Amino acid sequence: MVFQSQLKILISRDQIAEAVDRLAREINRDYQGKQPLLISVLQGSFVFMADLIRQLDLPLELDFVRLASYGAARESSGKVRVVQGVKTPVEGRDILVIEDIVDTGITICFLLDYLRKKKPASLKLCTLTDKPSRRSVPVPIDYLGFTVPNKFIVGYGLDFDEKFRNLPHICTLED
Ligand code: IMP
Ligand code: MG
Repeated sequence: MVFQSQLKILISRDQIAEAVDRLAREINRDYQGKQPLLISVLQGSFVFMADLIRQLDLPLELDFVRLASYGAARESSGKVRVVQGVKTPVEGRDILVIEDIVDTGITICFLLDYLRKKKPASLKLCTLTDKPSRRSVPVPIDYLGFTVPNKFIVGYGLDFDEKFRNLPHICTLED
């Protein structure tokens, strides 16, 4: 059972909105004249994706992938599999992957390898948060919202056991 008192605001909704604005400006600038395919990693990145795309002035397309790695536990199992792959052809496209958090890096490395095999014209990563203290495989991040401390975070799409995705702020979940 998790109590409300275990939640502390780490990044407020206003700070998130500012970061989304900044990232959108960077992406708008870098993808001028292109038609990127944004790939959102379900489920955690759907809130971020929804806010970000409404600030993008580009003829973009969307797709979603669902990967499995985390269960109810707070630790990654280290095993990743594709539960739902991309539906849109990736070959020759400018792909921008949208993630909620890069933690050990195992999940995103697996996804980037999976997409690279499909021969995109370019492949970049935009993540709302980065927890570098726990990295076990190197991950090149092209667009970053926030570096976060080595704490479990929830809200703004991020969950603990499928809960708290609806919080407007990013909060730490204290023991
Ligand atoms: P990684 O494979 O360790 O990088 O884990 C990545 C995935 O684990 C993310 O896409 C999240 O779904 C989940 N995850 C990692 N850290 C957190 C956290 O602090 N809060 C919520 N989910 C997390
Ligand atoms: Mg995720």
